[in-house]
Amino acid sequence: MAVKEIKKDIYWVGVIDWDRRLFDELIPLPEGTSYNSYLIKGKEKTALIDTVDPTKEDVLLDNLDDLEIEQLDYLVVNHAEQDHSGAIPIILELYPEAKVVTNEKCKKMLIEHLLIKEDRILTVNDGDTLSLEGKTLQFIFAPWVHWPETMLTYLTEDKILFSCDLFGAHLADSNLWVDDESKIYLSAKRYYAEIMMPFRNNIQKHLEKLRELEIKIIAPSHGQIYPRPEFILSAYREWTSDQVKNEVVIPYISMHGSVKEMVYILTEELIKNGITVQPFNLAQTDIGELAMALVDAATIVIASPTVLTGAHPQIVSAVYLANALRPKLRYASVIGSYGWGGKMLQDITAMINNLKVEILSPVIIKGYPKEEDYDSLIRLANEIIEKHKNL
Ligand code: FEO
Repeated sequence: MAVKEIKKDIYWVGVIDWDRRLFDELIPLPEGTSYNSYLIKGKEKTALIDTVDPTKEDVLLDNLDDLEIEQLDYLVVNHAEQDHSGAIPIILELYPEAKVVTNEKCKKMLIEHLLIKEDRILTVNDGDTLSLEGKTLQFIFAPWVHWPETMLTYLTEDKILFSCDLFGAHLADSNLWVDDESKIYLSAKRYYAEIMMPFRNNIQKHLEKLRELEIKIIAPSHGQIYPRPEFILSAYREWTSDQVKNEVVIPYISMHGSVKEMVYILTEELIKNGITVQPFNLAQTDIGELAMALVDAATIVIASPTVLTGAHPQIVSAVYLANALRPKLRYASVIGSYGWGGKMLQDITAMINNLKVEILSPVIIKGYPKEEDYDSLIRLANEIIEKHKNL
């Protein structure tokens, strides 16, 4: 996509990655993504805010050529992760006068990960400003959204917040501006779930700090630009709040039908009692969908068969992820089946130590569910129903 002017002397010079389908060799990107880089021309100085993934650096360079940028004074680096920092070396090579502007923590990472020379880097502190003459950049430290060095950049005259990963969405879209809030809501929620959710408490504090700024536009590093910042700010306030919803998430694997039947019985009973249930067959599901469901849910029920002596490896993988994402769940339980023994229940409960949950009665059965097993599942459903009355 060609360069786009956001406002006078402020340009989007990023790259849309239509084909990327996996991030960190882990996170599915069903809608592709973008790496947003922004160019700001002051009366005297010019600054580039973040770069792009190194696989797409040629497109960024073409964009700078299109704008006939012959001199670049500053390269503001909000975050050291390579999808934004990966083109720094080529930019510094082509613009030998340019200085990287970042914080001390990020500086160390750039030196470690990208071998950037220390004398090319200027460091700033939280709240510092940098004048381009007529355009002033203010740096706002926002650690842990998503790495410890992350900062945001605020353009004071135009009241634009360049928010880096925060408020982003993995979405390839030819419209630079959010044109359909219901569409971006889902993409942004998926992104929050996969990337930001572990830092929920930090984000709550950053959202409070941002209330001090008048923000007219939010321009993140992935996805579209928000012309109505309150839309994404209020979504983030909801997702990061301590409030949970009357929802149960059931990630499961079933090898011979026993666990599937258990999930079916539990799901039916919960739905009958007004609870929203999202079962995820992990043999088929996209883990991003599971992560999204965990943003609001009050309860997770993990449902596994027994493989050799323990939990099914796909359950182990999903539970590891759920534990790492630290959703605001309040309750958890485990259901499942075994053939001749094992410690599937112990395996799973040992893996959810990050979750601040009350464990509800597990239902572990031998073989296919029988009458007494159905009763146990109904008892578990009733326990969940009672707990959810007081959310
Ligand atoms: Fe989009 Fe944390 O990098």
